[in-house]
Amino acid sequence: MWVPRSLGRSLSQLKSIGSGPFARQISAKIVNESSIEVQPEADGKPLVFPGIWLRDNCMCEDCFHGSSKSRKLDWDSFDTRIRPVSLRTDEQCQEVLVKWSDAHESRFALRWLKERSFEPDAQQKYLREFYRPTTRNWAGSEFQEIARHFSYEEVMAQDSVLMQWLQALAVYGVALLRGAPLDEGVVRRLADRVGFIRRTTYGEEFVVQAKPGAQNFAYLSLPLPLHTDLPYYEYKPSVNILHCVVQTDSPGGSNMLVDGFHVADLLRRDHPEDFERLSRVVIDWNDIGSEDGREFHNIWRAPVICLDAEGRCTRINHSVPQRDSHFNVPLEEVLPWYESYARFVRLAIADSHAFKTRPGDVLTFNNIRLLHGRTGYDDSKASPRYIVGAYLDWDIIYSRLRVLRKRLTASCQ
Ligand code: OGA
Ligand code: ZN
Ligand code: ZN
Repeated sequence: MWVPRSLGRSLSQLKSIGSGPFARQISAKIVNESSIEVQPEADGKPLVFPGIWLRDNCMCEDCFHGSSKSRKLDWDSFDTRIRPVSLRTDEQCQEVLVKWSDAHESRFALRWLKERSFEPDAQQKYLREFYRPTTRNWAGSEFQEIARHFSYEEVMAQDSVLMQWLQALAVYGVALLRGAPLDEGVVRRLADRVGFIRRTTYGEEFVVQAKPGAQNFAYLSLPLPLHTDLPYYEYKPSVNILHCVVQTDSPGGSNMLVDGFHVADLLRRDHPEDFERLSRVVIDWNDIGSEDGREFHNIWRAPVICLDAEGRCTRINHSVPQRDSHFNVPLEEVLPWYESYARFVRLAIADSHAFKTRPGDVLTFNNIRLLHGRTGYDDSKASPRYIVGAYLDWDIIYSRLRVLRKRLTASCQ
């Protein structure tokens, strides 16, 4: 039965008739003439949903395209003064039915509504678990504690292990796979297991080894100071995959890692002026050269510490070789910026953790959060080093993680 507003704006079906053993009692009422308050269970907390949002999200055939899960209602004529005029609850289907001031009717499943609750705690849970896992920033001294190891074979064969690897990567920004075969196809197979490889100027898979006439600073056996890859791209590859095929017997060739978000936290706490400057002053990053006969001239301008709308660290840019000699800032900014940057770099070096990968290890890490480097090594014929690299993008990783989570943990959304 529809309950018009004039007859009393609430309807509670406290006795469910013929509703089966598992149907719960739900009730709903119109509040402030514009919102709907749903009481999912007799003793549960009521959930309030703005009418305008419900009307915008009507899922009838006229308003919603089911197979693409896309809104198709005509927004050019959407009336923002829309009001619910009457409500009905269907215990059997666990649905709330709404009649609108434009004579349209909509139905909303209780489960769908609960998943879209406007309660701040529920929204935080969705954002911190389903949208993107909350990062756990770490100090270099905590590396052994946070570093997760997975078997390459298990990641390739078991969805639950794939999910654990990607989750660790999202939370800690680093994870190590072990026991990979020693062929050059590993990084592509791994990228394909997640989604697809991210191509850059340097190709899809790239080989890191000391090369005569190197076009990239990494392709030397010199120490490679801490850096993020491709700071000179607006759309940076987000995750590095470095597969160790051959490791040098010489004393060097270790990887260094540091959590750039942790270093930024330290700077914000102990040197707020440096933090402010590094997150404000826009730096030119560049890479000029040619690869496979194609010339490139990449430039992107961005601060060292990039913050999101809530002031949280969202990405880090740092590279000594790839910082442009063009420095488009006011003269008076130059020296203070260098001083702040030097402090950041010194903190990062002091906090970095070094370790040497072994053949069959695949080191994966967040390129827009961690800084990474490599100690120099002696590149003689007797002790070569051969690393195959590739990149993945966070969009692809997060999407895979959500799909896995929905399938493996019966989480909804
Ligand atoms: C790079 C790099 C690390 C390594 O190529 O950018 O960081 O282990 N390489 O050689
Ligand atoms: Zn509709
Ligand atoms: Zn690098």
